[in-house]
Amino acid sequence: MTIPIESMNTLRERREKVLNNVSPEKLAALHARGSFSARERIDTLFDDGSFQELGMHAHHNAVSFGMADRELPTDGVITGTGYIGDMQVASFSQDFQVLAGTMGKMQARKIVRLMRHALRVGVPMVAFKDSGGARIQEGVDALSGYGDVFYYNVMLSGVVPQIAVICGPCAGGAAYSPALMDFVIMTRHNAYMFLTGPEVIKAVTGRTATMDEVGSAEMHASVSGNVHFIAENDEHAINLVKQLLTYLPPNNTEDPPHDMSVPIDEMEDHGIYDLIPGSSSDPLDMQAVIRRIVDNGQLLEVHANFAQNVIVGFARICGMVIGVVGNQPMVRAGALDMDAADKIARFVRMCNVFNIPLITLVDVPGFLPGVEQERGGIIRHGAKMLHAFASCTTPKITVILRKAYGGSYLAMCSQEMRADMVYAWPSAEIAVMGAEAAVKILYRKEIEQATDRKAKGAELAQDYRDKFASPYAAASNFYITDVIDPADTRWMLALALRKSLGKRELRPAKKHGNMPL
Ligand code: HXC
Repeated sequence: MTIPIESMNTLRERREKVLNNVSPEKLAALHARGSFSARERIDTLFDDGSFQELGMHAHHNAVSFGMADRELPTDGVITGTGYIGDMQVASFSQDFQVLAGTMGKMQARKIVRLMRHALRVGVPMVAFKDSGGARIQEGVDALSGYGDVFYYNVMLSGVVPQIAVICGPCAGGAAYSPALMDFVIMTRHNAYMFLTGPEVIKAVTGRTATMDEVGSAEMHASVSGNVHFIAENDEHAINLVKQLLTYLPPNNTEDPPHDMSVPIDEMEDHGIYDLIPGSSSDPLDMQAVIRRIVDNGQLLEVHANFAQNVIVGFARICGMVIGVVGNQPMVRAGALDMDAADKIARFVRMCNVFNIPLITLVDVPGFLPGVEQERGGIIRHGAKMLHAFASCTTPKITVILRKAYGGSYLAMCSQEMRADMVYAWPSAEIAVMGAEAAVKILYRKEIEQATDRKAKGAELAQDYRDKFASPYAAASNFYITDVIDPADTRWMLALALRKSLGKRELRPAKKHGNMPL
């Protein structure tokens, strides 16, 4: 049987219309501002020839408000699967050129169909968001579509990695889909995201706000914490997606892509001494320490602009993928505040679900004191860290570099949070609180009665420090595993990690813990 030439022509024409729905002029304008078309995003993400589209010919069946005769290629979203190296990935890309990429019933069905594939097969999901939101002409059908997408975001959560790339508008309730995903990347100049924009804010509250204030990538990356990475343009955003995927397993039943062929050399690194300040009151640069310890100095920082008093990110150590958590004493002395606690707790939980071992580097003077912190619920936020670390069953190795005071010591994955190994540098100070504050409580009367109160306070503080300004009080009680030479940190961590990768830990059966939110 031969297929009639007319049928083949129809197929060709239909495909042509869908594949080339953006004019050369429009494409040039997009490129000039650092954007790609929806299809170019997909083409750039996947290896050549590996993309297979689902539902290219799907069409809406709305009729109201002039929709009956409206042709909307792909119904405003390209959906399908492809390969990035060895890894299959599912992706959808909303097409702003088609009725502003708005979501109606068919668009939602296409996305949900893809999400179900990702869930069944166990492959990561990458979503390019570029949409005017719910397609108003489709009313409740559009709302219901969003509801279905949100539901599947939750079903996929903890099963496959979900990455959202906001490369255009993402307004109203639509913003909840990226918020339910693991990582949100947003382009700096062409994207904005908000629940209620400046006009609605003005109408309801009377306050004048700019789009930058409420919806820019800069704001979300540094203030609200909704965004994990800022990309300079679409190409950079796609590069970030690919970098992220090199640290993640395709799903929660698999390990991250460790390279076990890398040998662990017992080389001392004396250069690390230069990073340790002479005085414990001078800040250490944790970013520099991390880069010194990990392979090739490469750290993919997550949430780099948010709560900069702590650092979280991905790296490798002798080929093994790790999640790194650390205080950054260069900012607010590395103290833990509400945002820092949220940033760490979320990262730890993400590492846990994707079987990524954690290395925690501690130099923490405490939780940040302040009226704003107490009233804002630092207790509730700090408790998230304890909950996240204690619940995490992946290998956990902690290194105490310098300060580890009070509750913040425990919250940075101490032995009691079931860290597998806790190493301390000789410069570690593990105590209930800092020396000056401690002696004011312990020796209030003696200090008040002294002729030279300042000198007495300093003398008592020195006594306290002599006892606790070393790791040996904790080490002699076996609260830490070992005291190590800083120059040995890299290979000691690598060896301990390699020995812990087979860790399997069972917990009591339950639906889930009741994390303080
Ligand atoms: C239907 C829409 C639309 C929408 C845009 N269009 N938004 N159609 N529903 N939500 C249409 C326009 O009518 C126009 O159609 C085409 O898309 C291109 O839009 P323009 O306005 O010409 O483009 P531009 O000037 O670039 O502005 C883009 C925009 C603006 C900033 C996105 O259109 C806009 O503000 N739209 C409304 C955004 C919004 O309020 N969304 C929230 C919806 S409610 P023609 O026919 O001229 O080509 C919502 C709730 C979700 O999302 C709740 C989920 C739980």
